[in-house]
Amino acid sequence: MRGFFDNRPLVFKKEQRLKLKILITGVTGQIGSRLAEKLGERHEIIAAVRDRTGFKGRYKTVLLDLSDPNSTKKAVELSAPDQIIHCAAITSPESCEKNKKLCQKVNAVGTAAIASAAVETGSRLIYLSTDLVFDGKKRFYNENDKPNPLSYYGFSKLEGEKAVSGTMRNYLIARTAIVFGKGLYRPEGGFADWLIKNLTEKNRLNLFTDQFRSHFYLGDCVRAIELLVESREKGLFHISGGNRESRYDFAIKLAEKLGLDRRLITATKMAGIPSVAKRPKDCSLDNSLLSKATGFVPLQIEEGLEAMKMEL
Ligand SMILES: NC(=O)c1ccc[n+]([C@@H]2O[C@H](COP(=O)([O-])OP(=O)(O)OC[C@H]3O[C@@H](n4cnc5c(N)ncnc54)[C@H](OP(=O)(O)O)[C@@H]3O)[C@@H](O)[C@H]2O)c1
Repeated sequence: MRGFFDNRPLVFKKEQRLKLKILITGVTGQIGSRLAEKLGERHEIIAAVRDRTGFKGRYKTVLLDLSDPNSTKKAVELSAPDQIIHCAAITSPESCEKNKKLCQKVNAVGTAAIASAAVETGSRLIYLSTDLVFDGKKRFYNENDKPNPLSYYGFSKLEGEKAVSGTMRNYLIARTAIVFGKGLYRPEGGFADWLIKNLTEKNRLNLFTDQFRSHFYLGDCVRAIELLVESREKGLFHISGGNRESRYDFAIKLAEKLGLDRRLITATKMAGIPSVAKRPKDCSLDNSLLSKATGFVPLQIEEGLEAMKMEL
C-alpha cells in the first residue's frame, strides 16, 4: 500500500480508472476542443464557454468569462468538478503586446480566480502554460530553469503560474511547446495552419533559421494531458515534442509531407525583421520528467506531421 510519504508516480491502471467530472476552459480552442473530445470518451466533461450560441460540442456547458472573476467563481462552484483543465487564455503574443491590460486581466488575474475557486470546491487544477516563459538563451529548458519571459504574453502566463502555485497545493502546471494539428471548431489555428493556408495560396514566406521550438503534435499534447489527468502528479511539467526544429526546418518538413511547394519558403534570420512581440531564439523544452512520470513518448516530427495529414 502507498504510504503518505510515498512519492512514486502513480498512473491509474486501465481497470482502476475513475470516471472524473472535468471542467475544461478554452474548449473552443485548438487544444481544449480536442482534449474535451478525447477525455469525453471516458469522463464527464463540463465545457466552460463565453457564449453558448454556436458552440457545437455535445457537453454540458457553463458560462465563464475570465475577465470577470465573479463569473469564473460561479462557473467553478456550479460545476463542482473533480478536476479543472484551464486552457483558456489570450494566446496571441501580438494581441497581448497591444492590449496588456486585457491580457493581464484574462491570463493572470483570470487564472488567479480559477485557482481560488478550485480551492473552494476542492478541485485539482491543471493549468496550461507556455515555453514562452523562457528567454531562449539556452536550449532544452527543464523544470528547474528560471523563466524570464521576453513578451507580455509570456509574462502574463508566468503570472498565471505564480497565482496557481501560490494559491493551492493540488495543482499541475503543464508548459506546452508550440502545437501543430487541427482544433475542432476553428479553421484558423496555430503556426502549422498558417503555413498550410499560405503555401496552398502560393504565398512566399520568409522563415527563421535561428528560432527554435520543440514542435508538438496536437494528438500527443492531448495524450500527455490525459496521462497527467489520470495520474496523481503535482507541480510543474514540460510537455512537448522530443526535439528542436527551427521555424524554417519545420516549415520545409511540413511542405514536403503535404506535397506543398517548398520553393515558396525562404530561409531568413530574426535579426532585422521587426515584430510586435519579442520571440526567444531557442525555447525548446526537455520533457524527460513527463516521460519518467507517465511513460509518455512523443512522436518524431515526421510521424506527427503524418498523423496531422491524416486528420486534415
Ligand atoms: N497552441 C499552442 O501552440 C500553445 C503553445 C503553448 C502554450 N499554449 C497554451 O495552451 C492553452 C490553450 O491554447 P490554444 O492554442 O488551444 O488556445 P486558442 O486556440 O487560442 O483558444 C483560446 C481559448 O481561450 C478562450 N478564451 C479567450 N479569452 C477568454 C475569456 N476572457 N474568457 C473565457 N475564455 C476565453 C477562447 O474562447 P472563445 O472561443 O470564447 O474566444 C478559446 O476557447 C493556452 O493557455 C495557451 O497559453 C498553447
